[in-house]
Amino acid sequence: MSTTTSSSPKIVAVVGATGNQGGSVVKSLYQTGKYKIRALTRSAQSDAAIALKAKYSEIELVEVTSDHVDSLRKAFKGADIVFGVTRNYHDYDSASATNDTNGEIEHGKAIVDAAIAENVRTLVYSGIDSIKQLSNGKYTGALNCENKYEISQYLVSKSDQIQGLLVYCGYYMENYVHMSRLSPEDNNTVEFISPFDPTELVPLVDTTNDMGAVVAHILETPEKYQGKPVEVSSGFYEIQEMVKAFTQVTGKPARYVKVPFDFTGVDYLTQMFKGFSEFGYFSERTEFVEHHRKAGIKFTTPVEFWKARNWNGPTQ
Ligand SMILES: NC(=O)c1ccc[n+]([C@@H]2O[C@H](COP(=O)([O-])OP(=O)(O)OC[C@H]3O[C@@H](n4cnc5c(N)ncnc54)[C@H](OP(=O)(O)O)[C@@H]3O)[C@@H](O)[C@H]2O)c1
Repeated sequence: MSTTTSSSPKIVAVVGATGNQGGSVVKSLYQTGKYKIRALTRSAQSDAAIALKAKYSEIELVEVTSDHVDSLRKAFKGADIVFGVTRNYHDYDSASATNDTNGEIEHGKAIVDAAIAENVRTLVYSGIDSIKQLSNGKYTGALNCENKYEISQYLVSKSDQIQGLLVYCGYYMENYVHMSRLSPEDNNTVEFISPFDPTELVPLVDTTNDMGAVVAHILETPEKYQGKPVEVSSGFYEIQEMVKAFTQVTGKPARYVKVPFDFTGVDYLTQMFKGFSEFGYFSERTEFVEHHRKAGIKFTTPVEFWKARNWNGPTQ
């Protein structure tokens, strides 16, 4: 275990610190004043890393040049806690990726192995349900989910060596920004696209603000959460709710457009969307809603998200 005494701030190493989830964890843990943050990045000179350091001057930026255990071990040395997210499936360099996993499983397991090798006490991993399991084997190819589930199970299997906590992130409110376009009919109405029915319920979350709040909460009493996934969202909203909130905040005309499940042309995403639609994102679990309410965790509402975003829609 790390040599940090109970009164000194705990050292937290954050994988993906310049991204949505890791950035949120940096923000929330920094605000508690209880932690020393070590932010991992591939380049301390990137705009995102420089911006992170400018915002939180006391954090330590650590460059990690590869996803392998040795490289991660250097970054985890002396840390009490690690937060890990394995990034988007399509972010991988396809030339170095393996055919079936694109390296995500290897990266996730390397995070676990490096944390254990460095005697890190607690590892919080951002996982997700297995669509294969959720659908009783109907959809087996949602690899972005299956990979994370496998990494989660690997972490849980090491419970005699490390305290493994799992957070399952809801459907990003940020997705609406990326999945939007101007209507070709009038070049003015904003169309928000997704393959779900407009009234379908999804657990929304303003990831860049609210992931960290949940992580900070579970780190207060980690023993209560070991191996049990904690869903990150305040509850279920109709998918079209964000569209209504957008017009309410911006005054701009907007509509929800349901597109075919295979609208991305990417099979693993088609299977993921179908799985979530038929079997429910978070497989229709709801206990987390009451848990977060009792814990007093404040989640961003759709209206608050658009107000803070200060964005009027795509320009083309
Ligand atoms: N969209 C959703 O609704 C949703 C819901 C649940 C879960 N998720 C999952 O969330 C994950 C993404 O998390 P996020 O949004 O926090 O990610 P993100 O904002 O894209 O950031 C991930 C970080 O990982 C690093 N990174 C990116 N590409 C890399 C590469 N090729 N090699 C090594 N490091 C790389 C980057 O840091 P540096 O550039 O500083 O190195 C980046 O800041 C995905 O796996 C996705 O499946 C998404």
